[in-house]
Amino acid sequence: MISSPATDPARIRLMFASIATRYDRANTILSAGVHHLWRRRAVRRAGVRRGQRVLDCATGTGDLAIRFRDAGADVVGIDFTPEMIELARTKAPAIRFEVADVTSLPFSNDSFDIASIGFGIRNVANPAKGIAEMARVVRPGGRVVVLEFGQPHNRVLRPIYASYRKHCLPRLGAAVTGDREAYDYLESSVGQFASGKEFVELMHSSARFDRITFEPLSFGIAYLYVGITA
Ligand SMILES: C[S@@+](CC[C@H](N)C(=O)[O-])C[C@H]1O[C@@H](n2cnc3c(N)ncnc32)[C@H](O)[C@@H]1O
Repeated sequence: MISSPATDPARIRLMFASIATRYDRANTILSAGVHHLWRRRAVRRAGVRRGQRVLDCATGTGDLAIRFRDAGADVVGIDFTPEMIELARTKAPAIRFEVADVTSLPFSNDSFDIASIGFGIRNVANPAKGIAEMARVVRPGGRVVVLEFGQPHNRVLRPIYASYRKHCLPRLGAAVTGDREAYDYLESSVGQFASGKEFVELMHSSARFDRITFEPLSFGIAYLYVGITA
């Protein structure tokens, strides 16, 4: 698959490298702290048990990996931006964080019980390959958990949120991080990326799942997808 300029891996890596040190603060301000609730929900719906092996992909500064660790999991986090991985290591030195690409995971088949990705799959040049790789490294009957932005389904909220995303979010993001381009990209990538049933279809076309469920979070500003691997 040829990547569009918006998801050109080299550009994406540079963009995240440039905002890495301000990424956590921007998340908290732009989502008014709600991203913590979404992550907590993702860990609960993953059904993780103490001692289970979890791979958090596109882990960034490690927030979702840290939540899985707090739930008792044995966690590995990977991301292809070294600057993000360095920050994750500083935040949680006991977690194994590695620089790796989700579309070519350096792990053998069935090595994890759960693979997760939080706000990462939209940035992957070939998301189907990313999902296929996550499913490959998870044992049959394990879970692939995807947390990602989407479009609100409510007819009143949808245009209000679209307007916030288009006009306020890039300005706010630029004010917090000093990087307007990254938050223009966030706005356009969220608007274009598949959500709800459309994303479930993408998952089904990427790998063999026995079942995939999804739920909108905060009226569909984000979505949580859980696939049970076949
Ligand atoms: C919006 S951040 C999400 C970080 C973190 N998961 C979170 O929940 O805050 C997206 C991350 O995806 C990473 N990424 C994008 N494409 C990737 C790929 N092909 N392989 C690994 N990481 C990738 C970027 O480096 C960036 O850290």
